[in-house]
Amino acid sequence: MKVGQAVSVPAEVLERTGGRPVSSIVYDEATIAERVRELGMAITEGIPDGELLVLGLLKGSFIFLSDLVRQVRRPLQVDFLVASSYGKGKVSSGDVRLLYDPETELEGKDILLVEDIVDTGRTLSRLMDLLKARNPRSLEICALLHKHVAHDLKYSTKFVGFDAPNEFLVGYGLDHAENFRHIPYIASLQ
Ligand code: IMP
Ligand code: MG
Repeated sequence: MKVGQAVSVPAEVLERTGGRPVSSIVYDEATIAERVRELGMAITEGIPDGELLVLGLLKGSFIFLSDLVRQVRRPLQVDFLVASSYGKGKVSSGDVRLLYDPETELEGKDILLVEDIVDTGRTLSRLMDLLKARNPRSLEICALLHKHVAHDLKYSTKFVGFDAPNEFLVGYGLDHAENFRHIPYIASLQ
C-alpha cells in the first residue's frame, strides 16, 4: 500500500472503536512496521557510541517506543516523560505541563526524545529546553509522524517516520480524548 493512501476502514477497527467514526486508514500495520524497522537502523547507525537513553514522551509514544527500541541494535536505556498539552481538544493549546520527570540521570548521556507526532512543535520545544538544561552529551528527537505545519521550529527532528497529512490522526498510541490508542493502524478522524 502506498504511504498516505486512504483505504476503507475494516470491520475489525470499528469493533475496537465501538462503531465510532474513524474515516480512513492512513498508515497500515505493515507500513508502520517496515518504517519502524528502518528508523531503528537509522538510530543504530546515527548514534553509534555513548550512553544512549531513549526517552519516551507518554502517553502517545508508548506503542511506537516499544516497537522502536526492539529495532535498535546497540545498548540503550529507556525512561519516560509525561507531559500534558491537548486536553480534550483537537487543537494544540501550547500549554505544556510536566507530570512525570525521568528518574534516570541525563547528564553526559546521548538522549533520544521519542514523540508520537509533531504538530505545532510547542510540546517538543518546551521539553527540549528543559532537557538541554540537564547537560546531556547530545539531544535528538525521533517522531513517528511530523505534520510540518510550523515553519519556525526551534529544534529539528532528526528521525521522522512519516511526513503526515495535516489531519487529526489516531491509533498506534495516538488518541483523541484518550480513545483509539489501541487501534493497530494510524487512521484519520477527518
Ligand atoms: P504540538 O505541541 O502541537 O506539536 O502537539 C504535539 C502533541 O499533540 C502530540 O504529542 C500529540 O499528543 C498531540 N497531537 C498533535 N497532533 C495530533 C493528532 O493528529 N492526533 C493525536 N494527537 C495529536
Ligand atoms: Mg495526545
